[in-house]
Amino acid sequence: VLAEKGEHKHFMAKEIFEQPTVSAYALGHYLNAERTAVRGEAADIPFDEADRAVLVACGTAHYACHVAKYWFERLARLPVEIDVASEFRYREPPLSRRDVAVFVSQSGETADTLAALRHARPQVRMAAAVVNVPESSIAREADLAMPILAGPEIGVASTKAFTNQLITLAAMAIAAGRRRGALDAEAEARLVGALSELPRLMAEALRRAPEIEAAAARIAQARDVLYLGRGPMYPLALEGALKLKEISYIHAEGYASGELKHGPIALVDPQTPTVVMAPRDALFDKTVSNMQEVMARGGRIVLITDAAGAEAAGEGAERVIRMPDCDPFVAPILYALPAQLLAYHAAALLGKDVDQPRNLAKSVTVE
Ligand code: G6P
Repeated sequence: VLAEKGEHKHFMAKEIFEQPTVSAYALGHYLNAERTAVRGEAADIPFDEADRAVLVACGTAHYACHVAKYWFERLARLPVEIDVASEFRYREPPLSRRDVAVFVSQSGETADTLAALRHARPQVRMAAAVVNVPESSIAREADLAMPILAGPEIGVASTKAFTNQLITLAAMAIAAGRRRGALDAEAEARLVGALSELPRLMAEALRRAPEIEAAAARIAQARDVLYLGRGPMYPLALEGALKLKEISYIHAEGYASGELKHGPIALVDPQTPTVVMAPRDALFDKTVSNMQEVMARGGRIVLITDAAGAEAAGEGAERVIRMPDCDPFVAPILYALPAQLLAYHAAALLGKDVDQPRNLAKSVTVE
């Protein structure tokens, strides 16, 4: 099949706008028809026989693992270790038959992730792979391959694969919660119901593209950009910063909001925008005080939040990007879209080669 950009200028834009469609493929695969329970390979992993999950990947896939850590710990009460594959494979991590290891890779060919899988598989209870390419090396060598069903991803910077990795990992975390007795059927149905709202929520979020493009014009002028988030939005801050760096070449750093005062606040000045990713959840007020610390130093804020968050904290932010209201469980998936669009529009406005950024490869098959 010849990949076509269709109405879009770049594959990356096409792939961002495909997310309402391809998320539904993953949801259809991992959720039952009634949308009350997880099914498929996600339910087949013996998390009830595990003391730990070890999640290993590179790049954007690693940030998907980072979000999943919050889910597995909270929903399944399962301790989780995450690492980048290039570190994991060489630091001789102690592994055991009470570990389930999960390797996440869009291409399924990343050399470090494949080597980490080969290293871990003989030692653990099960080595599962979360992959977009079902015939890839990582899918073939794992004990269990879980497809993410995002379809071919051409843009070097990963977008739709990230959100479908998250959906797959979310389904796994719910299934783990059930197997471990941490969630009852009612809680499972509520979480599955929240996930099944994603295609509609994503389509709605994409309608904010013009506002996000306007905010991106501001970002495109900056030399440095800070991204802040708390809880499961912290890895989203890391991913937002990575996306911007990859395609616009603007220096960006993602930080846990609470770490702001331990270093990055020194960078804050009127020329350094701070992107705050914060739905109005239990930790929102803490993030607002972090925003105020930034504003008190002349920093400009781009706040990505929901209606309640905009109401409570929009005042003082230079730009507010308003996401549709969603269950806090799915916010890290939904909020990936404005982060992707912000990076995309900043890079496109700067005239960068969005789909083929300098020095980067889609799949890194050498060490
Ligand atoms: C490269 C790509 C990234 C990707 C990473 C991991 O660096 O540019 O977008 O996240 O590899 O790739 P994988 O195929 O293993 O997910």
